[in-house]
Amino acid sequence: MKLSIIILAAGQGKRMHSDLPKVLHCLAGKPLLQRVIETAITLSPETIQVVYGHGGEQVRDGLADLPVQWIKQDQQLGTGHAVAQAIPNVADDNMVLILYGDVPLINPTNLQTLCSEQNSLNVLTAKLDNPTGYGRIVRDNKDQMIRIVEEKDADIKIKAIKEINTGILATQAGYLRTWLTNLNNDNSQGEYYLTDIIAMAVTDNIPIHTDTVSDVHEIMGVNNRQQLASLERYYQLQQANNLMLAGVTVQDPNRLDIRGTVQTGYDVNIDINVILAGKVSLGNRVKIGPNTIIRNAKIADDVEILSNCVIEDVVIGAGCKIGPFARLRPETELAEQVHIGNFVEIKKSSVAKGSKINHLSYIGDSEIGRNVNIGAGTITCNYDGANKHKTVIKDDVFIGSDTQLVAPVIIENGATIGAGSTVTKNVGEGTLTVSRVEQKSFKGWERPRKKK
Ligand code: UD1
Ligand code: CA
Repeated sequence: MKLSIIILAAGQGKRMHSDLPKVLHCLAGKPLLQRVIETAITLSPETIQVVYGHGGEQVRDGLADLPVQWIKQDQQLGTGHAVAQAIPNVADDNMVLILYGDVPLINPTNLQTLCSEQNSLNVLTAKLDNPTGYGRIVRDNKDQMIRIVEEKDADIKIKAIKEINTGILATQAGYLRTWLTNLNNDNSQGEYYLTDIIAMAVTDNIPIHTDTVSDVHEIMGVNNRQQLASLERYYQLQQANNLMLAGVTVQDPNRLDIRGTVQTGYDVNIDINVILAGKVSLGNRVKIGPNTIIRNAKIADDVEILSNCVIEDVVIGAGCKIGPFARLRPETELAEQVHIGNFVEIKKSSVAKGSKINHLSYIGDSEIGRNVNIGAGTITCNYDGANKHKTVIKDDVFIGSDTQLVAPVIIENGATIGAGSTVTKNVGEGTLTVSRVEQKSFKGWERPRKKK
């Protein structure tokens, strides 16, 4: 049976107190609604429709690359009214699954199960210790679900029910279409409640099937920043657990944040306050020191990253040693056994095997050969104020401390640059180049004295 998914995302999210529409707030670095859409995509539906309203253009434009149809709900007259905006685009025999743009951690396997029951109305429920605020699932004496009562319409007896409506449901479009036309807004909120279709199904003798989630986090919605933070913590802990179960030592699962996907080898060790973002892969025995941020990086076996590094869009070869306090910027590629030390910034450069840049340097737009030693305080002057230029340093070069390499410039194999030089011309193979004022000493020099 073909599946059509409708995601409701028209609510304002007033309780976020934000200029950003609620569904664009991020969980683990990704907008809430994007998470729901990506989950929906894994179910291979025929169509995904997103019902948007308040701030909708911003939502639509923010997620324009995703393969969904955008359906405007001009006035938010209730969940039933929202679904009614999208249902005309769905064929009668399709299965329709209703999801929510602010329920980010829903589990696709459970959705699959919910959609597998046909010729029925399938409702996803949960049991909560504190069900306040949710619609309650009312069952008859045969334990059959017969209706949903919203909190605001509930009496004390109903309020005592702990089984709640997650809002997520699945049924045939044909049924849904008929039920939606029969909704009214005769309730305490004056809204068209989607939940009223349950009682209609009972009247129509359509079986009602319920699935109850075992982990309530997956059906939790986000209404304010506190709920967002608590779902974020839950999600992060889950990810840390997954890493640990895959053989990674995580020094403190509460102090690791993963905002993307991480692939790991054996015996990886991650110290506290580490953020891994985008697509990160860590080879066997990689060690990451505390307070480090890594975004989009391929890090090979036996790499050691010491504390306080910032690493983005980088490839790091086996056995490299990085940091502490190193910054590796996009398009940097380090081969094996490279050492990058403290207060070194590298941008758009390649460094070949065994080379060392250990202290206080800026290397940009450069190509560095094998076994090169770059002395402390070396700067590649890659920018002339208008254009960027390249520095090429070939194998076995020794660059003395406090050297400026004014690009474009090429240093040939085995060359040595004396400390404190400003290199503006290409340097030949095996030569020593010194460009600095000759040292002079003056005898009997008296230092100035403080005036009385
Ligand atoms: C709804 C359910 C309730 C359930 C709860 C779960 C109804 C009547 N009630 O209540 O049984 O326990 O969700 O969280 O369905 N939306 C629109 N357009 C609208 C109204 C809502 O797109 O006109 C969207 C909202 O953006 C939100 C979702 O639908 O994502 C739920 O709306 P909300 O008003 O939060 O429903 P609740 O009152 O919480
Ligand atoms: Ca409401």
